[in-house]
Amino acid sequence: MTAEKLVAIGADHAGLGFKELIRDQLIRLGFQYHDVGAPEGTERVDYPTVAEEVAQMIQNGSSHFGVLVCGTGIGMAMAANRFKGIRAANCTNEAMARFARAHNDANVLTLGQRLLGPDLALSILETFLATRFEGGRHQGRLALFN
Ligand code: RB5
Repeated sequence: MTAEKLVAIGADHAGLGFKELIRDQLIRLGFQYHDVGAPEGTERVDYPTVAEEVAQMIQNGSSHFGVLVCGTGIGMAMAANRFKGIRAANCTNEAMARFARAHNDANVLTLGQRLLGPDLALSILETFLATRFEGGRHQGRLALFN
């Protein structure tokens, strides 16, 4: 399995439903996933621990992208962005997902299960994975904070 086609996914208790849908969608889109948890049925888990596991998979090169789900997507983005080389974007529509990839070379998508419908969430995911980083003037900007 090449790292480019492997997506590390994780969710806290508030994002477990979406995580299941995301797994199926990734397979449909020709990706494979590594699920860091939390396991189905988990009553409570602290989102920073999940974000850390996904961030580390990207840092060590075993995964190219990450997808993290919590209630709002906000906590996961904050936690993931503390790790060097991680550019996590909390996206609530397809345009945000497209720009997060094209301009910011985001490597982690965060989603809020309490804020988004499932169809929209999957459409955001598909847009994120289908959009390439444009490089050029955006590359130099990333170098300023990476
Ligand atoms: C959990 O209740 C909730 O706070 C968490 O999933 C997330 O929304 C934090 O940003």
